[in-house]
Order: sequence, then structure tokens, then C-alpha cells
Amino acid sequence: MRTDTPQPIRLADYRPFPFAIETTRLVFDLSPSATRVRAELAIRRTGDGDAPLVLNGERLKLLSVTIDGQALSANQYAVDAEHLTVPETPDQFVLTTEVEIDPLANKALTGLYMSGGRFCTQCEAEGFRTITYFPDRPDVLSRYSVRIEADGGLPHLLSNGNLVDQGSLDGARHFAEWVDPFPKPSYLFALVAGDLDVVTDSFVTMSGREVALKIFVDPGQASRATYALDSLKRAMKWDEEAFGREYDLDLFMIVAVRDFNFGAMENKGLNIFNSSLLLADPETATDADFERIEAVVAHEYFHNWTGNRITCRDWFQLCLKEGFTVFRDQSFSADMRGAVVQRIKDVRALRARQFAEDAGPLAHPVRPSSYLKIDNFYTATIYEKGSEIIRMLKTILGAEAFRKGCDLYFERHDGEATTVEAFIACFTETSGQDLSDFFAWYEQAGTPAVTLTSDYDAQASVLTLNLRQSTAPTPGQPTKRPLPIPVAIGLLSQGGESLRDTEVVLLDKDAMTVRWEGVAQPPVLSALRGFSAPVNLTTDARPSDRYVLFSADPDLFNRWEAGQTLARDLILARAAGAPDEVGEERYAEALGQALVDEAAEPAFKALLLSLPSEPDLTLLSEEPADPLALHEARDALRIRIAIHLGDLLRRLHGEMQSSGEFSPSAEAAGRRALRNACADMLSADPHDENLTRLVGHYEASRNMTDMIGGLYPLVCIGGEAREKALSAFYDTWAAEPLVLDKWFSIQSRDPNPDVLDRVVALTRHPAFEPTNPNRLRALVSAFASFNPARFHDPSGAGYRFLADQILTVDKFNPMTAARLVEPLGAWRRYKSDLGALMRQELERIAVHPDLSKNVLELVTKSLT
Ligand code: PHE
Ligand code: ZN
Repeated sequence: MRTDTPQPIRLADYRPFPFAIETTRLVFDLSPSATRVRAELAIRRTGDGDAPLVLNGERLKLLSVTIDGQALSANQYAVDAEHLTVPETPDQFVLTTEVEIDPLANKALTGLYMSGGRFCTQCEAEGFRTITYFPDRPDVLSRYSVRIEADGGLPHLLSNGNLVDQGSLDGARHFAEWVDPFPKPSYLFALVAGDLDVVTDSFVTMSGREVALKIFVDPGQASRATYALDSLKRAMKWDEEAFGREYDLDLFMIVAVRDFNFGAMENKGLNIFNSSLLLADPETATDADFERIEAVVAHEYFHNWTGNRITCRDWFQLCLKEGFTVFRDQSFSADMRGAVVQRIKDVRALRARQFAEDAGPLAHPVRPSSYLKIDNFYTATIYEKGSEIIRMLKTILGAEAFRKGCDLYFERHDGEATTVEAFIACFTETSGQDLSDFFAWYEQAGTPAVTLTSDYDAQASVLTLNLRQSTAPTPGQPTKRPLPIPVAIGLLSQGGESLRDTEVVLLDKDAMTVRWEGVAQPPVLSALRGFSAPVNLTTDARPSDRYVLFSADPDLFNRWEAGQTLARDLILARAAGAPDEVGEERYAEALGQALVDEAAEPAFKALLLSLPSEPDLTLLSEEPADPLALHEARDALRIRIAIHLGDLLRRLHGEMQSSGEFSPSAEAAGRRALRNACADMLSADPHDENLTRLVGHYEASRNMTDMIGGLYPLVCIGGEAREKALSAFYDTWAAEPLVLDKWFSIQSRDPNPDVLDRVVALTRHPAFEPTNPNRLRALVSAFASFNPARFHDPSGAGYRFLADQILTVDKFNPMTAARLVEPLGAWRRYKSDLGALMRQELERIAVHPDLSKNVLELVTKSLT
């Protein structure tokens, strides 16, 4: 066990930095294991008094410190493992430090590190302090100029802003000079040096300025960058139209790297991407990859305003940039790909990740008030729930008032590091509405439970709606207050006609009653349309009401939701030992009806066909969860559907096959999604005809979407079909890291009972590289998160495996190790014998010597 107890950082302790760093001049002399960094900081005292200058700095070898050119003697400064302190300074001065760092040894992938022979950086949140001494906090904005010197073997030398000079130096070395005219916090600094191919294009902004666009990729990969480039141009245009935001530099660059802890990073003018979220062609990327690339390219680009031009005062305000930017990228994707399908996918992700987080030991408010390691707070709550809050704000204010508030925010806070309060104040001002209650959404953790019951008085034609809300306690927040919850409600007749259009009821008390007059017939309620708030809704609807919604709700989100709820209840009933066979048949029949609806898009039908996932069912089951029982119950429903709808599924599977050239369009992707959903369902009933069809699907596939869509069903069927398909896949793709990631992850999601042995064996496969986060997650996280029936093996072997991986990875990459903890943290939700075994592994991790703060924080919170 660690002896030093790390101290949490608290929002309440925020104090401005007492100095301004007016300019920052960095000179990099790059060398893999001994890079020199000289920093010249023009500093001015801004706080009163005689506060010492305290700079952050970790893992740095300090070579020299000077003030205004005068070397400091040893008694004029102090260095410890995390700081450089100069107790006495003039009011205005230039501080120059020189340090040496070792990028080659850096496997934590924060700061300056090497990936595939190239130098690259990742500074958010606190990586800059491992590059040089600096006030590494988001409220210290400075103008940067950067000089990079390196070997000729690294032809591209990139940093933020505009390239102002470059040339050669002695000894086959060369240099580049970059100037970024926009003041920025250190977390937005970036540097890349390496041998790269570049794809170039340009964009003319709404005011007529031409911006050069460049995407840098591994040599030979240029053709895989075109979709990202196209997405970027669409995102730039969209932000001008939807938010009036124009790009500001003359150059916008993106670089793809294979070793990256997260998805991508919005460094000013120089975004750095995990290559899995940038590179795509039809042969190697699935439609889901294309979709993610489009969304993430947009997300990082949108940060230029929501994050870079206006940044966060402190890391507690992270949702200010992340929640808002996710909202912006989701709105963009909705415009690109269709609002309903996009909304369903976003809500599915929200429930799977954020609702799970909110229901467990790591629940925290969208704006937390303390943390140990900020790295641990890049969570679904900050991102996805943060976005839902903005969405509710728009619903409550209306689109026009929402846009006015955004305009004011951009105008008023441009160039600042600000707070969520300041953001909300803009909307209060432009709308004239009091949003003080609304603010509680940022401060209160947990998913509210909303119940809706209704009474219909036929005589008076009056419908009475009774709404209630409550939020269960979360760690550190034993009591909760009511939140303002926008509940969008419409009415249908029993025959499925629309009786009353959507109206938003604002539930802002514990309980309230609403009377709707003039309701001429007994209605069916369609509530929480479009998922108007991030809550769990319970209603007194009968299955027959749900079938009306499932077949006829004009709100397609709720049509899908009705199907999901019906399926969920059937699966939970069966898992609890009370199967409703008649209900299951009825559901399969209704699903068949929905699938032949000519008016519905294939992409939507594909979503109708996918049953609630096993992790979702775990979260929804009332009793302590039994993942294996849930898996078997879900499978039973799949088998019934596959049998009941066999002819229809085979017919659709045939009809959706396309013969023409591949198009990444949403429409074409929708057809592939439906075809793959049919294949997936048919694998539940693997008789010869289906098996032949599935093998044919796999073998004839000419793009990665179809190939994966054929491979997974064969893996599920197991046996020889599985072995043949997996080895053919490996032989074809052994040299393509991104595709090999898919090969690993598909095997980790194998539902067959022998999967754990196979996963363990795969950790000894020569292509398994635990230092690469993509590969690690493909095998380890995918198994722990998406294969609950096998991860929760009663022997505890799945838990042991995960704990071993966490301890191994924590030695070199704490950020990524910490992200593996969550599946164990949910131990309270499972049957007590499983929960005890999970807890035991957490305890084993907790007492391990030299645990990182990252893992320690999550394990400790999970145990208390
Ligand atoms: N700021 C990045 C984004 O959301 C995420 C990120 C955080 C990446 C920390 C790397 C490290 O766009
Ligand atoms: Zn972001």
C-alpha cells in the first residue's frame, strides 16, 4: 500500500495564477532518448504581494535556470519531483530553463513520446509539465513561438500556428519555426516530427479567407485520409452555418498516430488523432469507423471555438468544452446522417456508458468538485451527460434563444479561460429566463428516475398526467433535489393515429400533475419523445400500449424505444425464471411487421432488429444481476425471432446486398447495417441453410463492414466455421494494425464458453502489444465490457485476468490502466458470490506497491 496519501484538488480552492506568461519561446533539439528543451518565458507579476513563482515540472532533468540572462545559484530556486520554485523574482522578467527529457522511454503516452519512429506530443490535461517547467494549468494563456531542430530523417517538423521559417543546419539536421498568434493554455501545445505523407486541400471561409488543410499520415497511407479530409471540410462549413463560427488560422493540420491514449486531441491548428479515428477506406474500415471518423474530425475541429478560443478556467470546468463540443458534433452528425438514427445511437451510448457510471461507485457530477487525477475525469458523464444538458437547455429555451445565448458566449468570452457559470449566464441574459435551478444539472450526480401515470376521464375528455421524480443517492451526495426535467409528450389513439402533437412538460418539482383537456378518446401516451432528458422513465403503459407505439408512433425514437422496452421486459422475465412465451411470439410478430414497413429506412430497421445489449440488461435488471442468465434469456429471444422471422430475415438479407461500387453514404451504410443485423439474428438459428448463407456472406464480402458483419456470426456459431473464418481473416490482414485490432476484439466478444482461455492465449500472440492502447482495449476492455456472460465466470478467472492486466499496464501507462478498472468497480450490481470475487480483485490491486494515482483513485472509490 502507498504510504503517502495523495491529496485531492478542490474546486473551492481555485486561485488565479499570480503571474502572466506573456510569451513562451520553446526551442526543441530532438533526439530519441535525450531531447533538449529550452523555454524562455516572458513573465509579469499580476497578483499582488510577493508570491513565489511556482512552475510545474515532472520527470525533467534540469540543466540550467536563468532570470534575465543571469544564471540562478542553487539557493535562489528549489526543485522537487513536481515543481520548480523561485521564491523571489522581479515584477517583470524573462525566465529561461533548459531541460533534458527521454521521449523514447515514455510509454505513458503523455508529454513528448515516440510512436512508430516519430515524435509526437499529448499535453491535455497535464502532459506539458513533462516537457518543460511551466504553469501547466488551463487559465494561463500565452503566445507561443516554437523552434524545432531535428535530423533530416524526420522531414516534417510541425507545431501550432503558422510556419514562418525553415531551413537546414549543420550535420544533416534541419529546423522549422512556428508562431501561433492566438494565446493558448499549455494543454493545447503540440509538436510532431517524423517521416509522413501529407494530403492537402483548402477551404474558403465565409469571409473569403483561404485556409490550407493538411492531413499527415504514415508513408503509404495517404489514400486512407480522404474521408477525414472530406469530413473536415463539411464540419468547417457546418460550423459557419449552424453556429456562425469561422476558422481563424491560415493552416489547419491533422496528424494520425498509432499509439494514443484517447481518441483525438484538439491542439490549436495541429490536431493529433488516434489513427483508428482518421484512416479509412472501404476495404479496411467499417461503416461504424467512417461514422466515428466523421464525428471525431468534427468534434476536434469544433473545439477550435469551444475549447481553444474559449477555454476552461480550471479542469472542473471540463464539461464547458467537452459537453458543448459533443453536443455540437452530435448535431452535426444528425444533419449529416439523419436525426433519428443518430439520436438512437447517441442514447444507446449514453445509457451504456453514462447511466452505468452514474449508477456505480464512480458516479460524479458533470462538474465535479474534487479529483485526485484529472485524467480520470474524461468520462461519459462529462462528455455525454454534459452534452445532454446542453440539449435540454436548447429544448427549454427554444432554438432561437439558444443560438442567441451561444452568440453572446462566443462574443463575450473569446480569448478567455472561463466557467460554466459564465456560460449559463449568457443564456439567462439573452432569454430572460431564470436558469438557477437548471444549474443543478451540473452539480448533482445520478440519473433521475421519472415516473409517469395517467388517468383518463372519458366524460370530461380530460387526461390527467401525474409526474414524479427522484434521484438515488450517489457517493458524497446522500440527498438530492428535484431538477428541471423537460418531458416531451404526445398522444396517440388506440388505433395509432396521432391525437395530440408533442408538448414539453417541464417537471421541476418532486411531483406534479398536468391536466390536458379536449382529449376525445382514451389515449396512448408517448412520453420522453426523442429522449428529451437523460432520465430513466417508468410509466404505467400496458404492453398493448407499447405495441401501438412500436407500430405507429410518429416519433421514431419512441417507436424504437417501445420495441426495446418490450424486448427488455421479455428478456428480464425469462432471466428471472418466468418466461412469457406468448409475449415473445407476439413481439417477434410485431418486429416482423415493423421490418416490412416500406416507409422506414433500412438504418432504422437495423436498430429495431438489435435487442438491448447484455451490459444494458445488466443495468436494467432489478435484482442483483446474473449475467449468464441474462445472456441465455437474450439468446432465447434471438432464437425465437430467428425462427419466427427466418424467411423474412433471409429475404431482407438478400435484398439488402448491394452489387454496385462502395459508397460511405448514410443511405448505403443503412442497407449494409440492416443486412448485417439480419445475419446476426440468423446466427441464432444455425441450421445448414443459415450456416451456408452466413459462410457465403463472409466469403463474398468485399468491404470491411460486410466482412465483420459476416465474421461475428460465424464466431458466435463457433466450431469449424469460426476457426476457418478467423484464420482466413488473420492471413489477409496480418500487416494492417487497425484491422488486426478488429480481429482481436471480435474474438474477445465470442459468446462461447471457452472464450476466456482463448483471450488469455491471445495475450501471448506475437501481435498482442499491451503498450499500444488500441490493441490492449481491443482484447482486454472489449472482453471485460462487452462479454459480460463470460467475464463474470463464476470461477472469478475473468476478474483475475483483468486485474493482472491492470497491474501490468499500470507500470508504464497509468492513464490507460485506469480505464480498465471500471468493469470491476460495478461489483455491487452483481450476485453476491460474483460481487465478492470482483471485490477481492480490487483489493488485490489496492495493496499493490507503487500503484499510480490514476488507478489508486478509481480502485479506492470502487471499494468504498
Ligand atoms: N480533449 C480531447 C477531446 O475530447 C480528449 C483527450 C483528453 C485526448 C485527454 C487526450 C487526452 O477531444
Ligand atoms: Zn473533446
